[in-house]
Amino acid sequence: MSSQAIIVTGGGGGIGRAIAGRLHADGHTVVIADRDRAVAESAAAAIGCEFELIDIGDEASVMSGVKAVAARHGGLFGVVNNAGIHMQALVVETAVEDWDRIFSVNTRGTFLMSREAARIMAAQQSGQIVNIITKLGFGNPFSSAYLASKNAIWGLTQCLAIEMASSGVRVNAIAPGHVGPGTGMEKAFRAKAEKLGKSWDDFEADVVATIPLHRWCTPEDVAGGVSWLMGPDTSFVTGELINITGGFQAYASTPSADSVRAAAERGPTK
Ligand SMILES: NC(=O)c1ccc[n+]([C@@H]2O[C@H](COP(=O)([O-])OP(=O)(O)OC[C@H]3O[C@@H](n4cnc5c(N)ncnc54)[C@H](O)[C@@H]3O)[C@@H](O)[C@H]2O)c1
Repeated sequence: MSSQAIIVTGGGGGIGRAIAGRLHADGHTVVIADRDRAVAESAAAAIGCEFELIDIGDEASVMSGVKAVAARHGGLFGVVNNAGIHMQALVVETAVEDWDRIFSVNTRGTFLMSREAARIMAAQQSGQIVNIITKLGFGNPFSSAYLASKNAIWGLTQCLAIEMASSGVRVNAIAPGHVGPGTGMEKAFRAKAEKLGKSWDDFEADVVATIPLHRWCTPEDVAGGVSWLMGPDTSFVTGELINITGGFQAYASTPSADSVRAAAERGPTK
């Protein structure tokens, strides 16, 4: 395994912590990058890896932080752009400051981290970038700034994959479904349930009813996808979107799992 580092942004939070832990267990040298010292420190201590304080929306912080990690570890094996924020608001009630706040972390932050990493990786002629986005191709009420910011990252992923291909650098995206429990995004889902006038139990039941595998995505499911991308079998994988949605992406409007199971038990129709 290379001693070059993999940076996991937002590694102090729910999904990022699982990604950092899985990559560390795989034998990679992992550095958690987060703007929150307390969560970064506690996740790094639990995993047994390093952390670097980086605010991904801040150009100077990204440039100095990424350079420092690469210098300490003889280069960058990879970057996982996982840090992201959400808010729940209809378009008509969204303040421009809130729109900019979401974009400044999700889109600008992923751009800044990717640009700095790509410069270092181009010089190395190796490396890979994994962007954690969200399921694309669907609208979702109260989520316009978030979904728009994540759709923009998919465009960035495709362009950068093409630009970096001749340098031996690969760039891919992972699109998880609803991930819980214990993620920061769960707070956003709870806010959405409230906005929709649903109890948390009813909201969860409605979410699960749209997922053919009939459960929420876990942080470990997402970490498994990142582990595969950072592993030895993906040298021909770039510019790809990997959905980890329990089948949601394959069948956006699914019948309930119970009705599918009952039909299977009844057998083929004559
Ligand atoms: N939880 C879900 O259902 C879900 C679904 C699809 C995609 N995602 C995406 O997965 C990623 C992680 O989600 P989560 O639910 O684990 O979030 P989380 O809130 O649990 O963790 C996010 C982490 O990012 C850090 N962070 C925020 N802004 C930062 C900045 N400017 N610079 C550095 N660090 C910053 C936070 O301190 C936190 O540690 C996000 O990009 C999110 O959009 C989540």
